[in-house]
Amino acid sequence: MSGTLRHLEPPRVVNIEDLRRLAQQRLPKVIFDYLDGGAEDEITLRENSSAFQEVYFRPRQAVATPKRDLRTKVLGTEIAFPALLAPVGYSRMMHPDGEAGAARVAGAAGTGYILSTISGYKLEDVRAATKGPCWFQLYMVGGREVAEDSIARAKQAGYGALVVTVDTPIAGMRERDSRNGMKQLMGKNALAKLPYIEEFLAHPRWLAGFLRDGGMPKLENIVVRGKGALALLDVTSALARTVVTWEDFRWMREIWTGPIVAKGVMIGDDARRAVDAGCAGVIVSNHGGRQLDCCDATLRVLPEVVAAVRGQAEVLVDGGVRRGGDIAKAICLGAKAVLIGRAYAYGLAAAGEAGVTRALQILREDLDRTLALIGCETVAGLDSSYVEMGRLGLRRG
Ligand code: FNR
Repeated sequence: MSGTLRHLEPPRVVNIEDLRRLAQQRLPKVIFDYLDGGAEDEITLRENSSAFQEVYFRPRQAVATPKRDLRTKVLGTEIAFPALLAPVGYSRMMHPDGEAGAARVAGAAGTGYILSTISGYKLEDVRAATKGPCWFQLYMVGGREVAEDSIARAKQAGYGALVVTVDTPIAGMRERDSRNGMKQLMGKNALAKLPYIEEFLAHPRWLAGFLRDGGMPKLENIVVRGKGALALLDVTSALARTVVTWEDFRWMREIWTGPIVAKGVMIGDDARRAVDAGCAGVIVSNHGGRQLDCCDATLRVLPEVVAAVRGQAEVLVDGGVRRGGDIAKAICLGAKAVLIGRAYAYGLAAAGEAGVTRALQILREDLDRTLALIGCETVAGLDSSYVEMGRLGLRRG
């Protein structure tokens, strides 16, 4: 584990924003912006967070809550607190601990980890790194044959669910990446990388870790038959090949016998389609505002999706969760649990496993404190009576 928790304690690190600041200091700009940024004007990126600020608590006072219980069950598996780690591609570029380190910390904290297809570590090694639940997120980069092979590997390795991301028919326009030359950095032309040397040298801690880790990792879970693991691609090129349709869920259903979860649902009709396609869960997500800009905040869409699935699938939500209180609000509005993306990835980028540990600790303590302050002893007891949603301008259910 690199970095120690002591460096990540108050006064240096009090909240997730502090980890974000440390991540910004440690990472070269091109990598930080990839992690931090969103599509186009970043309206959806901002809305995801600000929607949480439009929901106010209705606390019940003078209630004793001596033993707060943060546990919940997702897809039949108990987790210690209701936040799973979302798939975050290129995690190994942020810190050598990467996907394996994040999974290890999730397991130690008693929660689940969702591994992205775009991972620098082999899915078998990530599964082995955690004693907690582990799900595999699928992008169809490389087509159906390649996807079938990675699904078979995920099954063999003991992944508990297949998460199919449905919001990437192509990549969103991430203007920061385009300006920073992410494509050139990830490309094969060594000369095109020269302009980054100065920026890399200005971030020696990141650079030392990157070089010690062997430089650009390969995409170990996208293995083309006869050719081996794919070299690292920039995200635009990778997502140009990932279109998935509800039809695909049929063949996936045949080869994956465990639960399937559709990630990226933003309207009630699609939630119904997911249920009809046999999904055990849906994740209300706009990819953290990285794909279609100007789609609604996920928190606003959540009640519509919860109503549409009529209890036939579990509903999770992600986007903009930066505080434990946000987790409570999402559960009050009908989510079983949330996924956190940047909140832990900032920690990973700032200090590897220690940073992820600190991020989860912050969110857990926030949530525990929130339960005490609103007078609700258990996460299972949270419901809409604990929030006032007037200002959220909710969409119809
Ligand atoms: C992502 N996300 C993502 N989703 C996915 O299905 N596969 C992936 O490989 C990635 N990669 C990825 C990289 C980075 C750097 C980020 C920030 C996000 C989306 C992610 O799973 C999740 O939906 C969002 O991160 C949720 O929003 P917050 O929590 O980051 O605001």
